Amino acid sequence: MLIPIITVDGPGGAGKGTICKRLAERLNWHLLDSGMLYRLLALSAMNHHVAVDNEAALKVMASALDIKFQSIAGQEGICAWLEGEDVTDAIRSEDVGMAASKIALQPAARSALLARQRAFAEAPGLVADGRDMGTVVFVEAPLKIYLTASVEERAKRRHKQLLDKGQSDTLPRLVEAIKARDDSDMNRAVAPLKPAPDALTIDSTLMSIDEVCQQILDEAAKRGIL
Ligand code: DC
Repeated sequence: MLIPIITVDGPGGAGKGTICKRLAERLNWHLLDSGMLYRLLALSAMNHHVAVDNEAALKVMASALDIKFQSIAGQEGICAWLEGEDVTDAIRSEDVGMAASKIALQPAARSALLARQRAFAEAPGLVADGRDMGTVVFVEAPLKIYLTASVEERAKRRHKQLLDKGQSDTLPRLVEAIKARDDSDMNRAVAPLKPAPDALTIDSTLMSIDEVCQQILDEAAKRGIL
């Protein structure tokens, strides 16, 4: 049986996490937050003092990662455990994000994570959130979304997320961090962030979460995926 898959790619802070979780809940489908895999690998590398450019060690670590995910209703995003420890908050730090972005440059680490990502495609369907879901990991997906928003809007959203968690950072610093990560994600040699040729681009700058979800669900229904 062909598993229906909706891929949602785009830069950090465009709202992919919230939108994908909402979609997966509405459809009762599985959810893959592939960025979390890169973040977990980054945190594991940091814990084990492995350099972010040590390709051979990262490849081994990626294949052996001891991780667990759980989607908890009413809670933003997915909870994650690394080697038995709840690291849901730890992997969200800017440090881990930057390390994940550097690890994402290593072809060996990326290919070691491929099989783990594809294993999420199970009945009744999958919503896959990432940077290369539609261009590399699930090229056959019948609906590919490229979700974007302005840098300023993404920085504002990140700022609010941090405040909600009792953390803080200045807006200008967040703008710079987002620009640096975009630059690394979009200009890397392997699986750079870009819309798949057959992707539908949605700019969420002026849209609510509900509006974005509805547009995606309407498109899926139109294509006979649901
Ligand atoms: O979406 P995120 O911020 O959690 O992703 C963390 C990093 O992982 C990001 O800088 C790019 C990388 N990543 C990737 O290269 N490919 C993916 N499919 C998902 C994330």
